[in-house]
Amino acid sequence: MLQCHMHFDIFTLFPGIFESPLRESMLKRAIDSGLLEVQLHNIRDYAEGRHQVTDDYPYGGGGGMVMKPEPVFSAVETVLGFEMSSAMRNEAEAAVRQPNSEIPIILLTPQGRPFNQQLAFELAGYDRVALICGRYEGFDERIREHLATDEISIGDYVLTGGELAALVILDAVIRLRPGVLGDPTGAVDDSHAGGLLEYPHYTRPPEFRGWQVPEVLLSGNHAKVERWRREQALRRTWLRRPELLERAELTDSERAFLQQLSQKE
Ligand SMILES: C[S@@+](CC[C@H](N)C(=O)[O-])C[C@H]1O[C@@H](n2cnc3c(N)ncnc32)[C@H](O)[C@@H]1O
Repeated sequence: MLQCHMHFDIFTLFPGIFESPLRESMLKRAIDSGLLEVQLHNIRDYAEGRHQVTDDYPYGGGGGMVMKPEPVFSAVETVLGFEMSSAMRNEAEAAVRQPNSEIPIILLTPQGRPFNQQLAFELAGYDRVALICGRYEGFDERIREHLATDEISIGDYVLTGGELAALVILDAVIRLRPGVLGDPTGAVDDSHAGGLLEYPHYTRPPEFRGWQVPEVLLSGNHAKVERWRREQALRRTWLRRPELLERAELTDSERAFLQQLSQKE
């Protein structure tokens, strides 16, 4: 299997937030084995003037500060190697003149597309992705209108900054790239990968405080184990997230199994 590396450019005012997560576990291993490259770009380095100011008061008044457009545009354009201008009024022209248009420039915002496993698969298809982390009240609107190519939210709640959102996306995406997980099939059965929640897992000992591991898992009968797991995944999804079943691809016998469940439970 071809294993090529994925490159993330992360634009942030607080690069220190990324230090420990990138030095541990799967992200560290992916970096060490050359499958992941993360470049952190401090937006402040691109701010002009002695004080390198990156935020300002909102026009129209109100509380909080807004991230200024100049340092964010300058950081992204310098790193990705293009320049946007108001002369590029239409998006098609901008896309042609932007040499790196195959790199999504993603603004992290609670107003963006909801992040989920399907979106993680979509992003894992790119070799390079740029993530822009906001702070304070968020970004000057011109960053959203004229620089970002996509906007993503990690959920319907508000964080103080985009850094944790960037780490969530980085983690979920990189484990889908070939070679990153020790077990190449590891992500196939994961919850949400195929539209269902995953089946329950057990490990040794076979009995713990009187609680037994289900007999079928000790049987060594592969076909029976597979069937049990699929039924457990269906049951669990039906109990916890029934709305997921509406979009899941199910066989006739799986639908019949769910029908039986709803009559029994
Ligand atoms: C305090 S929030 C600003 C929220 C903004 N005032 C609003 O209501 O849409 C500061 C920054 O945190 C990040 N952020 C907050 N919640 C987020 C979420 N659910 N998903 C992604 N990024 C988020 C964004 O980068 C945002 O610019």
